[in-house]
Amino acid sequence: MADKKMWGGRFTGTTAASMEAYSESVSFDWRLYAEDIQGSQAHARMLARRGFLTDDEAVRICDGLDAVRAEIEAGEFEWKTGLEDVHMNIESRLTEIIGPLGGKLHTARSRNDQVALDFRLHVAARLTVWQERLASLIHVYLARADEHRDTLLPGCTHFQPAQPVSLAHHLLAYCQMFKRDHERLADCLHRVRVMPLGAAALAGTTHPVDPAMVAGELGMDAVFANSMDAVSDRDFVIEAVFAGSLIMTHLSRMCEEIIIWANPNFGYVRLPDGYSTGSSIMPQKKNPDSCEIMRGKTGRVVGALTGLLVLVKGLPMTYNRDMQEDKEPFFDTDKTVTSSLEIMAGLLSELEFMPEKMLATVERGFLNATELADYLAARGVPFREAHHITGAAVAHAESLGLGLEDLSLDDFRSFSDLIDDDVYAVLDYRAAVRRRSTPGGTGPDSVAAQIDTLAAWLDSAR
Ligand code: ARG
Repeated sequence: MADKKMWGGRFTGTTAASMEAYSESVSFDWRLYAEDIQGSQAHARMLARRGFLTDDEAVRICDGLDAVRAEIEAGEFEWKTGLEDVHMNIESRLTEIIGPLGGKLHTARSRNDQVALDFRLHVAARLTVWQERLASLIHVYLARADEHRDTLLPGCTHFQPAQPVSLAHHLLAYCQMFKRDHERLADCLHRVRVMPLGAAALAGTTHPVDPAMVAGELGMDAVFANSMDAVSDRDFVIEAVFAGSLIMTHLSRMCEEIIIWANPNFGYVRLPDGYSTGSSIMPQKKNPDSCEIMRGKTGRVVGALTGLLVLVKGLPMTYNRDMQEDKEPFFDTDKTVTSSLEIMAGLLSELEFMPEKMLATVERGFLNATELADYLAARGVPFREAHHITGAAVAHAESLGLGLEDLSLDDFRSFSDLIDDDVYAVLDYRAAVRRRSTPGGTGPDSVAAQIDTLAAWLDSAR
């Protein structure tokens, strides 16, 4: 039978065309070709070391696999859906090129441990790309923070103006999120780089394989401890997509801020032309589409995470074909995360901040009210009472259309006779920021320390 399946020994009938189309995975898992070949070459060398292949046979298999890779990369490889997946496409072509010897490659191996290996290698390679992109983004954040150490804007809680902060401090908050993302990936990578080959179908193999040798050659950190777990564990990709979801969530928060800041009622930023678009009907508009799309794509990655969790939640031990559905959510997440990190780095490096607009909103939002309350507390007024007195002063200033710093000393003294002339220096917005000099605060010394620490960390991480 010409189209006999590689697994078709016990079959007499042929696969329904609809079933073939339904069950094939090569249309997407071809992306694992490099890892499949790399894994097979390591496996062949291990088989030779263990005496299953002669050295010459291992060389011929490895050379044949090199030839297959060359065909794929030249765009000359004919992927066949009838061969189901990337693994059988490559093995089948190998056998065409080197003859029946190709059939020895699958000794002591199952597609169950093979696909786990390929996917782990692929996820590991991509996570290191995510780390590089995160590092590039943090680099841009640090540069922008460095430029804006003296730019003040209202820090908010409940999205209500609360206390003045430096723009640098605000941007550095995002650096902390992205640094944690980078570290989370490093941690996740330890669990991705676990060698499953040698688990075979599920129970291990009767052949005396050497998974540690293959693990060492492929740069894995550890070898599986339980063959059933090795072929059915998909925690590694779920964790990776979770890390991706959190990266996207952090990006999405930044997108939301940029969208708000770009609204003319705020006017804190001007969007670079390269990362915004116009309206086809309203000529005045410049839309923050890059940020909107990124905020939208976040939902798609979180959806991939949900899909993966649901995929495995009802699976009995061990490998189940359901698991084939683990690839596309990761590929899609990978595309989204890598492109989003790149876009944000480009956008942020060109984003024009408008310090005078930010300062104007600092000056009209009573952002120095806490300073007055602290001033009174420092003079022995219980803070709760100081809070009350300050609230009354704010209401009074508001009724006059003034800021706190515009009230006369007589006005202030009508609220508390503990207030002196020195209150005006305390109400100064820049002084308010400067006084927050405790570690991690918005004061310039703290911001300088944050920038230095992050820059040193980035150097070591890159
Ligand atoms: N395409 C399959 C997957 O992605 C490969 C493993 C198939 N294993 C099997 N026993 N049918 O999961």
